[in-house]
Amino acid sequence: MNLLNKFREIRQQTEYICSPLKIEDYVVQPIVDVSPPKWHLGHTTWFFETFVLKKFKEIFNPDFQYIFNSYYETEGERILRTDRGNLSRPTVTEVYEYRKYVNEGMELLLEENNDPEILSIVELGLNHEQQHQELLLTDIKYILGNNPLFPVYDINANFEYPDENTYGNFIHFAEGIMK
Ligand SMILES: [Fe+2]
Repeated sequence: MNLLNKFREIRQQTEYICSPLKIEDYVVQPIVDVSPPKWHLGHTTWFFETFVLKKFKEIFNPDFQYIFNSYYETEGERILRTDRGNLSRPTVTEVYEYRKYVNEGMELLLEENNDPEILSIVELGLNHEQQHQELLLTDIKYILGNNPLFPVYDINANFEYPDENTYGNFIHFAEGIMK
């Protein structure tokens, strides 16, 4: 698979993971170790904008450089990790618009540019996004599981708990001296 198709597929997968969520689910941070899904969506996009696209396309919103940086010291000041759940703005819609803006720029760039240095950063950015997909799944699990109403993640999944054998049974074997 060429890098452009891989880029599209992995970027779409992140949004697919979030697709069963309601708007409110995107924003909360029940404990410091959990990042809100909205933040993951923005941060993975920030990576491509910061390390690749900003040399070729105008930055979508300079404020996003601050709120979606994680620990990249060279890229300046950033919001405290514990404050990620306080971001009622930008809205989820704006973050999806940000993703669309950066995706369009990146796809155009990948169609036209074969610079190995850029391609290797894109590959790294995709690995980074896949790492955040794993985090998204565990964070969504915590967010929904921490809600006293236990909302269902994917209502179409038809998940059923496996039958548990709650009765002990004897195992029969021939009598004799056992070693
Ligand atoms: Fe990250």
